[in-house]
Amino acid sequence: MPKLIVFLGKNIVWDASREKRAIKIGKLEDNDIVLRDSRVSRYHAVIVKEADRFYIYDNGSTNGTYLNNKRLPKKIRRELDEESKIFISPYTLQCKIIHDMPHQQGTRVEPLDDVVEDSFHYGSMLGKSEAMLKVYDQIQKIAKERDPVLIRGESGTGKELVAWEIFTAGNRVDKPYVAINSGAIPKSLLVTELFGHEKGAFSGADARKIGKFEEAHTGTIFLDEIGDTLPETQVALLRVLQDGTFYRIGGREEIHVDTRVISATNQQLEQLIAAGKFREDLYQRLSVFTIFLPPLRERGDDVLLLTHHFLKQYGMEKFGHLPHITEEALERLRKFPWPGNVRQLESVIKRSLLYKEDNTPIQVDDLVMDDIRQPFNESVLKNPTRPQFVKILEEVNWNTRKAAELLGVTPKAIQNKANRYGIKLRDIKKHGYDSE
Ligand SMILES: Nc1ncnc2c1ncn2[C@@H]1O[C@H](COP(=O)(O)OP(=O)(O)OP(=O)(O)O)[C@@H](O)[C@H]1O
Ligand SMILES: [Mg+2]
Repeated sequence: MPKLIVFLGKNIVWDASREKRAIKIGKLEDNDIVLRDSRVSRYHAVIVKEADRFYIYDNGSTNGTYLNNKRLPKKIRRELDEESKIFISPYTLQCKIIHDMPHQQGTRVEPLDDVVEDSFHYGSMLGKSEAMLKVYDQIQKIAKERDPVLIRGESGTGKELVAWEIFTAGNRVDKPYVAINSGAIPKSLLVTELFGHEKGAFSGADARKIGKFEEAHTGTIFLDEIGDTLPETQVALLRVLQDGTFYRIGGREEIHVDTRVISATNQQLEQLIAAGKFREDLYQRLSVFTIFLPPLRERGDDVLLLTHHFLKQYGMEKFGHLPHITEEALERLRKFPWPGNVRQLESVIKRSLLYKEDNTPIQVDDLVMDDIRQPFNESVLKNPTRPQFVKILEEVNWNTRKAAELLGVTPKAIQNKANRYGIKLRDIKKHGYDSE
């Protein structure tokens, strides 16, 4: 019996445990998949199941429904294949059809009611602790402003998600959103990445290149890892923040942009300022609004919500159902201090499922909770195997420079090692890592 799972980004919005012949998609609350955006029609599209096949049709919507990039004619149904992509502006729903679901045995932790889980969401962020409710509130308050926002918080707390939510809750949502990770780009190249260059600006510049600020004109730019910038980049940033102008590298023409700047860092900027590595005036400009994201250990039972969420996400992908977990394992997760925050929790859950072939519940022993600061002994750090190397890179979110710091080598050495192991860092940074 084939079953359907529908993802919206990383969230499951329809899962195989729900049996229904018609799945309604639209803006109004009584749809099965609710897409709250003004561009979505009230009852936009429907997925129907017939004789073990799934079909989708557009319900006469204003802006159309696209199946694998082709617009559907109104009311004419098309069959979904194993991996279909449905685009309903501005959302992309990823469908997955799973055949032959394994039988479930043993006790299972009751899944949270989906409706309940939904109400703990703020967009793509999950959590209902006081600390997180405060964050949602702040996002809501500042989203429609034009002033810069600085997002601060430990590594893995969800700063990228917050930036995205500010963007989607704001009034520039139909304009470009350009994200740039300052930590992942060699520091000396960042300034050209941001501001572009003219033809002939330096050897190798054989054509004009438009920078990210220009790309983000009328929209939003997200400067991640803002602490990792050179003085010359900081000067140029200060200027564009002050009066919205800059020059392309090697250019004479003053360029004007209207771009909202959101930046993020997990570094102690005050210390960088005191050490003369970060300009105080730039800090003042960037932090007109500041959002502090609490570490996971200060979010109480959000750990359990997130555990459930990741179990569902990765378990559904792998087994087609929610995996079981023992009470003791849950307790261990709840008590752990999570130095790597949500990212670490996610990778612990993912890893605990990696080698599970059967339906036995996840036990305490299946949870490998190495502290990101001391997971690897000296010999591993000196000469990591490919899986160890991948794990190290995962822990630092594929940031070459951070990996280099952790291993005590140069970024070039990380690059060389990646090449030797056939790991395409550039692709992974762009598209994410797919563990084979
Ligand atoms: N509240 C949340 N709900 C669901 N997923 C979350 C939440 N917070 C973080 N995540 C997930 O955790 C991972 C880490 O989040 P993110 O990349 O935003 O962290 P970060 O704060 O930018 O970390 P760093 O400082 O290391 O760059 C991502 O996969 C993200 O989707
Ligand atoms: Mg980040």
